[in-house]
Amino acid sequence: MRVEKAVIPVAGFGTRFLPVTKTQPKEMLPIVDVPVIHYVVEEAVASGISDILFVTSRGKRAIEDYFDRSVDLECLLEHAEKHQMAKALRDISNLADVHFIRQKEPLGLGHAVLLARRHVGNDPFAVLLGDEVFCGQTPCLAQLASIFDSLGGPVVAAQRVSKQEVSNYGIVDARPLSDFLFEVQDLVEKPRVLDAPSDLAVAGRYVLTPDIFPLLSATGPGSGGEIQLTDALRQLARKRTVYALIPSAERHDVGNPVGFIKANILFAVRRGDIGPAVIDFMRDLLIHEATRGQTV
Ligand code: UTP
Repeated sequence: MRVEKAVIPVAGFGTRFLPVTKTQPKEMLPIVDVPVIHYVVEEAVASGISDILFVTSRGKRAIEDYFDRSVDLECLLEHAEKHQMAKALRDISNLADVHFIRQKEPLGLGHAVLLARRHVGNDPFAVLLGDEVFCGQTPCLAQLASIFDSLGGPVVAAQRVSKQEVSNYGIVDARPLSDFLFEVQDLVEKPRVLDAPSDLAVAGRYVLTPDIFPLLSATGPGSGGEIQLTDALRQLARKRTVYALIPSAERHDVGNPVGFIKANILFAVRRGDIGPAVIDFMRDLLIHEATRGQTV
């Protein structure tokens, strides 16, 4: 069965990004001039997804508005002969069939995914975290979906992280099948460095099967007092083969200020229109800062 439905949980508080996230969803922060969530949806669509369920919460209305038509604005742009921009705005609302469900309390990523149960039904589905952006020739989710198509089991994206970082992630105990593909033996959410079974961290893309739902409903609060998707995946891996794939794609965790700034710089310098000006600015800035360092 092909993966055509995706769940995008965006109901978290985004505390690492306060105060801006007090009133603004972190998923709507721009990478240059395009909101983070736009890249996530584009990746899903380019991977064959046609139906997207956002798990939202209070204060996330801007995401709903972004994927809706903005007829007034389109008319204004058409009037001003800015036809291309009007079309670009219309195209955003036609990207996919989008649905929204509310998570009334931020009880954790696992709880957010469980809310998609009725919408997903008996189909395999993708989960994309709304604060991670992947860049690469083949979309990250398409790479996971292709493993799902050939091997028929759930697949999580993984990436190698440094020792200092293992306690920020779900870490996989994995048996290698190749340099990039692994069979998941076990998973631990945010382990201490000494307890981490490997340096292979779960990244924010998953292809899951509906048998995850009963496991999620039986999962109690775990790390941080939240219902963790990792804990349910751990149970799933005991029942069937779950795969982990290191995708050939660059991952940007834009849910924290440093990752966000790095992504903005990278995307800006790679853009044909503004890239040269940004590079000039950065060269001058670095020279200026280096000389200042010498004179202090
Ligand atoms: P994060 O922990 O990275 O996001 O959750 P957060 O809670 O929004 O941010 P911080 O840690 O407070 O800075 C990973 C993803 O799971 C979603 C988040 O929106 C994010 O996309 N999530 C998390 C939910 O949808 N519901 C939750 O209860 C928790």
